[in-house]
Amino acid sequence: MAKPKVVITRKIPAAAEERAKQLFDVTLNASDTPMDAAALATALREADGLLPCVADKITAELLATPGRKAKIVANYGVGFNNIDVAAAKANGVVVTNTPDVLTEDTADLALTLMLATARRAGEGERELRSGRWTGWRPTHMLATQVHGKTLGLIGIGRIGRAVARRAHHGFGMKVVYHDPFPLSEADAQAIGAERRDSIEAVLAESDFVSLHCPATPETKHLMNAARFAQMRKGSILINTARGDVVNEGDLIAALESGKIAGAGLDVFEKEPSVPAELTRMENVVLLPHLGSATMETRVAMGMRAIDNLEAFFGGTAPRDRVA
Ligand code: DGY
Repeated sequence: MAKPKVVITRKIPAAAEERAKQLFDVTLNASDTPMDAAALATALREADGLLPCVADKITAELLATPGRKAKIVANYGVGFNNIDVAAAKANGVVVTNTPDVLTEDTADLALTLMLATARRAGEGERELRSGRWTGWRPTHMLATQVHGKTLGLIGIGRIGRAVARRAHHGFGMKVVYHDPFPLSEADAQAIGAERRDSIEAVLAESDFVSLHCPATPETKHLMNAARFAQMRKGSILINTARGDVVNEGDLIAALESGKIAGAGLDVFEKEPSVPAELTRMENVVLLPHLGSATMETRVAMGMRAIDNLEAFFGGTAPRDRVA
């Protein structure tokens, strides 16, 4: 029997590409250049399945491509706000994602940003590399302590819980959270997380606020001027979730006014474009969407997306179906 045809939109780690080659009649993207809408439409017309990444926009228009053959979109990523899920459902296209495998790495990166922002690591490195460091002195680059402070989590899903565990057990932090789906008493206790009734209550109490909710119409610009006003003066915002969750204009205003002391950001509203104001601020640490970027995890994400395709083409339910 002929192997199902699959298009993988970007280069993925070699081990995953090799497995895809064994299982499918696969088209790889050796040059790793982003595919435009026309190329994605052709892929949807010619292949049985598409394996896009979180930077590919799989719009309603694409999903309604006349003559579309592809019946599954196996996203390489846990977040799937790049895919119009309602349109996928309406067009009978199955959508899957890659949960679990990137939880620990993304939590590590949230902690990286929290420490780097609080301890002025980016600023210090820039000073040293530019030759401006004049030597040790007692009042040099004084920062904010992290251990023992209060961390507020907006969202307590897999990644939020992994961050809570690190912060509470590793850094002796008090952890408070808000999520529409609260943890059981036992789960909350295990990671030292205390529930608060509202986002506002979390913001008012926290020295650090870290975002761990999905990007949905409901969470778009969840962090806006009103919410920044609720944050403690001198607190720090961390975002490893999605850029859309933060109104970047309002964030810039909160930083410029000194309402908040800094921000550690791995995601942006219009990636790869980053507002120039942010790039000029010393108290902001900016990373190019690296949350899951370890070799181990990027291989595992590829394998998980391939598992989903394999199950689908084998006639069983893909494990990570989201639409
Ligand atoms: C995801 O998977 O959603 C990340 O943002 C990219 O790894």
